[in-house]
Amino acid sequence: MEDELHRLQTEALAALESGQDPDELKVRYLGRKGRLTAILRGVKDLPVAKRPGIGQLANRLKAELEAALARAASDARGGEAAFGLDIGLPGRRGPLGRLHPITQTETDICDIFIRMGFSVVETREVELDYYCFEALNMPPDHPARDMQDTFYITEDVVLRTHTSPAQVRTMESTPPPVKIVCPGKAFRRDSDVTHTPMFHQVEGLLVDEGVSFGDLKGVLAEFVRQLFGPRTPLRFRPSFFPFTEPSAEVDIGCVVCRGKGCRVCKQTGWLEILGSGMVDPNVYGFVDYDPDVISGFAFGMGVERIAMLRYGIDDIRLFFQNDLRFLRQF
Ligand code: PHE
Repeated sequence: MEDELHRLQTEALAALESGQDPDELKVRYLGRKGRLTAILRGVKDLPVAKRPGIGQLANRLKAELEAALARAASDARGGEAAFGLDIGLPGRRGPLGRLHPITQTETDICDIFIRMGFSVVETREVELDYYCFEALNMPPDHPARDMQDTFYITEDVVLRTHTSPAQVRTMESTPPPVKIVCPGKAFRRDSDVTHTPMFHQVEGLLVDEGVSFGDLKGVLAEFVRQLFGPRTPLRFRPSFFPFTEPSAEVDIGCVVCRGKGCRVCKQTGWLEILGSGMVDPNVYGFVDYDPDVISGFAFGMGVERIAMLRYGIDDIRLFFQNDLRFLRQF
């Protein structure tokens, strides 16, 4: 009996080795009418003294054979068992990133202008004094160039304090008409709950024949409508920028108190969201455009400020602390 068991085992393993189908072998040896099964059944007819020894041996061989057959069967399916890998299990999802709220807001702002036919242009962050100030009608003694506000690399190289140099660079290299938005980083020596030394702006410029202040109002009103909703009130408030004349700042009705007056709008009911104006004819002089033939408007807005209003955030520094508990909310 013992010999027979060992013979069966050797035979079955040899058959497996020679490439026979493990499922067939399983039927032949371990199935209901299988040969090993028959021996196991016969154990009860053996003399009592022999039963435990043969029974144990038969069960052990059966377990070994089953394991060998299962291994062979799964090897045939692609070998996943060999690596302890079950390809039937659901996969583990890797952590999924997302866009930073400032990037999202910048993209949303640009998308609105892209739908109105503007192209996106990006220019450099380390800029010549000439493009950042001089060609924007800010001569060396102009108060807007106060050392306090600007990071100087050398006497005539600065970290741009606004995205407006993109206007000059674009007009310098392309003839009119020009219709661009320029998103990007700007830098000022400023730091408190509403200012960080690095921040983002989106600049806009439209120059063509016959562009009027009415066009400026129409484009910016449509922009506000799309970004803040159709019922958002807005107003144009006279202002001053050296490179636009006339200039206006755009305010929207406070999104927090709906115009009643609160801490966010400093009780005025209005929030300033951007600066704008008709391009000053002096600027055209720097880029060889003829102010008798063309006219245009420009605008610039702070992305952080708009994101703070949209999401109701009262401390700008949260955007740059990289705290995942904050960033995961967007
Ligand atoms: N560059 C101005 C600023 O940073 C904004 C501005 C852009 C104003 C274009 C008018 C026209 O404050």
